[in-house]
Amino acid sequence: MVDIILKKRNGHALSEEEIQFAVNGFVKGSIPDYQMSAFLMAIYFQKLDDVETAYLTNAMLRSGEIMDLSGIAGHVIDKHSTGGVGDKTSLILAPLVAATGVPIAKMSGRGLGHTGGTLDKLEAISGFNIDLEISNFIKQVQDIGIAMCGQTPNLVPADKKIYALRDVTATVDNVSLIASSIMSKKLASGAEGIVIDIKIGDGAFMKSVEDGVELARIMKSIATHMGKKFTAILTSMQQPLGNAIGNALEVKEAIATLRGEGPSDLLDVCLTLGAEMMLLSGVVDNKDTAKQILSEKINSGAAFSKFKEWIAAQGGDVAQVEDMRLLPSCKFTKAYTAKSSGYIHHIMASNLGLASMKLGAGREHKDSVLNYGAGIYLHHKVGDYVLEADTICTLYADDDLLFSLAEVYLNEAFDIKADIPEIEKMILKLIK
Ligand code: URA
Repeated sequence: MVDIILKKRNGHALSEEEIQFAVNGFVKGSIPDYQMSAFLMAIYFQKLDDVETAYLTNAMLRSGEIMDLSGIAGHVIDKHSTGGVGDKTSLILAPLVAATGVPIAKMSGRGLGHTGGTLDKLEAISGFNIDLEISNFIKQVQDIGIAMCGQTPNLVPADKKIYALRDVTATVDNVSLIASSIMSKKLASGAEGIVIDIKIGDGAFMKSVEDGVELARIMKSIATHMGKKFTAILTSMQQPLGNAIGNALEVKEAIATLRGEGPSDLLDVCLTLGAEMMLLSGVVDNKDTAKQILSEKINSGAAFSKFKEWIAAQGGDVAQVEDMRLLPSCKFTKAYTAKSSGYIHHIMASNLGLASMKLGAGREHKDSVLNYGAGIYLHHKVGDYVLEADTICTLYADDDLLFSLAEVYLNEAFDIKADIPEIEKMILKLIK
């Protein structure tokens, strides 16, 4: 291992055997944390080229079980977001795309820090079970065309160990390490094609379009190397997506969107991602037709029916979905008001995510208990004109002492100016 660390530290390319040796040894425990930490830092400074990144992804992928989805008819397409604030697209896209006949077999994650996780949002619905046996998971996709569950413990164990070390050694933000971490899990989940939503902005890992393009390029090279179809879409995080942040609040907004009553920025991202999923699965051959079919599935009620069928199949309370007043809510609400009059230029998504976490919607630590009703509802977005003391957003919590903790972040979050702002497009770039 010392020779491998030295070789990378001195800027040389590593062979497949050397990368496999490092990953396998670390997973087995024969390579200690301190050597892996040094290796990660050498990668951070000297970088991996595309071939080395593909070797690393492959070594991580093979550290655990790989799902076999060949029993499912049709082309299974997975979707992944690099993580944002107010990002409830998976809750909408899974039933929406499933309603068009594309099978959805998706493994999702939990939120940590200021970004939310799909599993937490689904668990805001009473009874929803995310722990499916693999055989039941596949059977559910065969029966109703959709299933979503948590990652099995043996899915890419190398990533679990390496990510935990990256988190505490300042080696998270390296594109090869991010690409191999995400792609190894997506490849192990067994889909034939992958659509990645790369969020760009202060609430996201990628702060600039250039960084996002580089991440997409590396991921695409990994996918091509592994024989998978791939599309990346760079989407804006100039502000949170939609109006709702927090688990039950986001479920409500997802339901509204499936019923044709959702916010336009969220719908725009969902139709774009959904169309690319349909294109990769081969059920359509052009984007406009795909978007038209997706819109019809919303307007006819088919997408919402598929959502209810899915929730029921995984034990969730459909009554809560039909009557959203039955979803978890909070004892207290508080209006957060504008400090000055003017146009909203920017809403710092990361601060909204942190404020929502302080209200109880997110985890500060892995074992924090969530309050499903907690969060923030934005009444105004970038481009809106507000008067001083107008309510910009409503805060939800079960303890009114939490409001002042959230306000610390909100006080820095809204950029209000006299001139009319430029509103960033939601879809910044498409990379195929
Ligand atoms: N998400 C992941 O799964 N891994 C990373 O490295 C970054 C984001």
